[in-house]
Order: sequence, then C-alpha cells, then structure tokens
Amino acid sequence: MAGTDDVAIVELGPADAQAGLALSTEAHWNQNEADWLTFLNHGIVYGVRSGNDLIATAALLPYSVGNAWISMVLVTARFQRRGIATRLVDACLDAAKMRKLTVWLDATPAGTAVYGPLGFTPTVELRRLRLAHPAPPAATLALSTGDLDELIARDRRAMGFDRGPLLRAFCDRAGSRLVSDGKAMALVRDGRVARQLGPLFADDTASALALVDAVAEAEARPLIIDAVHSQAAFVTGLTAAGWSIERPFQRMRFGRPTTQATEQAFAVAGPEFG
Ligand SMILES: CC(C)(COP(=O)(O)OP(=O)(O)OC[C@H]1O[C@@H](n2cnc3c(N)ncnc32)[C@H](O)[C@@H]1OP(=O)(O)O)[C@@H](O)C(=O)NCCC(=O)NCCS
Repeated sequence: MAGTDDVAIVELGPADAQAGLALSTEAHWNQNEADWLTFLNHGIVYGVRSGNDLIATAALLPYSVGNAWISMVLVTARFQRRGIATRLVDACLDAAKMRKLTVWLDATPAGTAVYGPLGFTPTVELRRLRLAHPAPPAATLALSTGDLDELIARDRRAMGFDRGPLLRAFCDRAGSRLVSDGKAMALVRDGRVARQLGPLFADDTASALALVDAVAEAEARPLIIDAVHSQAAFVTGLTAAGWSIERPFQRMRFGRPTTQATEQAFAVAGPEFG
C-alpha cells in the first residue's frame, strides 16, 4: 500500500475492542478494554484493515449540546506517513458535520501536526504527569466517597457541556473511586498500565495537591494525571512531590464554541475523553 487511494475505511464495532487495544498498547497508551468498549458502544469508530489486521483507528464520541470528542487516532508504525490518520480524522469530521457537532480533541505533538492543517485551532494545554512508583500503600484511603452529582455539575461548568453518562459509567467500573475531602474531589480509575486521577476539581491549589497526596498514599500502582497547564502552581507542586512530566497535550477545537466554561479543572479525565 503506497498511498491512501486504496485505503478502505470501515466502521468498527465492539468485536474490535481487542484489536483496538493492541494499537493503543503499541503506542504505549493507557487505555484498557473498558475504554475501547466505551468508544465502540457509544461512539463512531472508524478503522482501516490490512488483510485481517486492524492497522489504524479514529473515534468520534458525541457528548451533549452539540459537542463531541475525537480520539484514539492511531496508525500502526509500518503504515504511518501515508495519509491514513488524515483520512480517518476527515471521516470523523464528516460524521460530526452531518450531526452539526463542534469537535474537540487533546493532541499529542505528533497529532498536532495532523490536526492543524485540517483546521483545528488550539485552546488550552495539558501536561501528563506520572508518579511511577508510589510508596506501598501507607493507609487505606481516609477520604470520603464524593458526591457524583456534584462531580458531574462541576465537570459541566468546566467543559461547558454535560458528560454525566460518561462519568457515571467511569464510577461504575470495577476499581473506580470517587474521592473527596470537602475542598477537592476527584475520580480515580483503572488504566492499562497506570491508575488515572481525573477529573479533579478543587477550591484552591493547596486543596488539589492535598487530595492528590492522599490518593497517592493509598495507591499501589503507578498514577497518571493530565493537569491543566495554566494551573501552574498545581503542576509545580506535583513535580515537587515526585511526579514527572511525561508529555504535553494540546487541546484543539474544530467549529465554533457552543458554551462558555465557568470553572477550571485542575486535571481532566484524560486526553481520549477530554
Ligand atoms: C500521529 C499519527 C496518528 C499520524 O498518523 P499518520 O497516518 O502517519 O499521519 P498522516 O500520514 O495522515 O500525516 C499527515 C501529516 O501530519 C504530519 N505528521 C504525521 N506524523 C508526524 C510525526 N510523527 N511528526 C511530525 N509530523 C507528523 C506530517 O505533516 C504529515 O504529512 P506528510 O507525511 O506528508 O509530511 C501516528 O503517527 C500515530 O499513531 N502515532 C502514535 C499515536 C498518536 O500520537 N496519535 C495521535 C493522538 S492525538
């Protein structure tokens, strides 16, 4: 396959979860099968096959009030730089256009090079931080269970649109925890190689850092956080506490904004979900 003229784009279904997981694992991403099933069951996922092998994907996940997220843009190494990601993202944009959706995504540096020419414009920046080796759990989590309705309301204020069904589904997953100490609240869920802490909302930076510390003390697995870069004191506090910055993500939007955010999160749910 030399170019993209003979590339057939197909729509994927739940039976493709394992093949999708193989692609995100090749890219060293953290998604697990439950994440793939979220996209395959609730979104539109396009793929390209070579023979029986799935070699590329891109997903469009509709949210509410005319917004959607594009993610899982993956092309296996030996098929890269042939225009396949561009074709798949174009297919997602066509599907979004038909549904009159404003589209968002969180791009890796390689992804930014694909999306800019397609007409995406940058919004906020994120930083992926990792706590590679948390100490053996010092305590069982001395935090109360957070109020899911409050998390959903704060998330709506931060995103500008509702993601209640997604956050409820995250909470229902085995191993998920919604934690709060009254001044900060966060969701912690399983990923393939690390637990993901986010979204995280707090009254102030000190409260956000205190909650992260309490979670880290009770976790045995590596942790990742996708912090909002403009929360500069939060990012600095995390690095001072032993977290290392792994990579940037650039949030980008295609289409006009439909709503205005009225609260800023400290950490987002993850680049694949926003
Ligand atoms: C990023 C990725 C999806 C690109 O897939 P692809 O099929 O190779 O992309 P395309 O061929 O459509 O690239 C279109 C243009 O984007 C730019 N581009 C693509 N990959 C790039 C890279 N690694 N570095 C710099 N520019 C890149 C180039 O300008 C390219 O055009 P050119 O090949 O004519 O120079 C693929 O490298 C990948 O799966 N990477 C790992 C996962 C990832 O980062 N996904 C993006 C998530 S936001």
